[in-house]
Amino acid sequence: MRPVIIAANWKMNTTPADAGELAATIAARTEEPGVVRVICPPYICLAAVRDALAGKNVAVGAQNVHHEQGGAYTGEISASMLAGLATWVILGHSERRRDEFEDDELIGKKLARAISAGLRPILCVGEVLAEREAGRAVEVVATQLRGALVGKDVEALLNAGFVIAYEPVWAIGTGRTASSADAAAMAEAIRATLAADLGWGHNAESVPVLYGGSVTSANIGEFLAEHSIDGGLVGGASLKPDEMAGMVARAAVTAKARAAAEGKPA
Ligand code: PGA
Repeated sequence: MRPVIIAANWKMNTTPADAGELAATIAARTEEPGVVRVICPPYICLAAVRDALAGKNVAVGAQNVHHEQGGAYTGEISASMLAGLATWVILGHSERRRDEFEDDELIGKKLARAISAGLRPILCVGEVLAEREAGRAVEVVATQLRGALVGKDVEALLNAGFVIAYEPVWAIGTGRTASSADAAAMAEAIRATLAADLGWGHNAESVPVLYGGSVTSANIGEFLAEHSIDGGLVGGASLKPDEMAGMVARAAVTAKARAAAEGKPA
């Protein structure tokens, strides 16, 4: 049974002075059984958010790591530096692919660093609008997956709880979402690429795939109704406690239904 995950990507928002309070408010408003909650604030707010979430069963994640261990990389943060601050990390977000020119090979190196530092990675993939309109979305995402994952230690990734977020670039921050059917088809295509192209076989079925891109409490239900989708990576709406409460409450319904289907308590 795959977990149901709601991951908050705060992007370049909040300060060390206000992040802890926001995280604590969200934690208190989202106490639902069966849902894995993750908050990814800016690096500089990680300590405040970690402290605010102590004992609250909400994980803390970073939004990026550098691909090297350490050295002369002004302004960068390595995976091992996050020890004690974060247990998850978002990698390959489309804003970093676009603004920092991150390519699949570099993202693959970051992934390897993240795993060896004991972080749980969320690898982001997704096509731009022209690629979707040209009917190339599945091919583009498969290329991203192969580029980042080829040659990686599958067992180490699985042990780390590797997660994939499908985020169509044209849906991020635009108020426009993929249809739930398209998102579900992509989640299936992602697992098919892992299973066949990358040789993960049946292990591909255990990899959670999240949908991201203008997710809100009003639309998350459509995505969570899809068996192949295991939650959301949420940007704008994740800064609003009411929205987080609504999304996690809806995710708890799916978590409960999945547990019941397996004959387990949520
Ligand atoms: P959004 O961002 O929810 O604001 O569209 C999602 C993301 O970029 O992870």
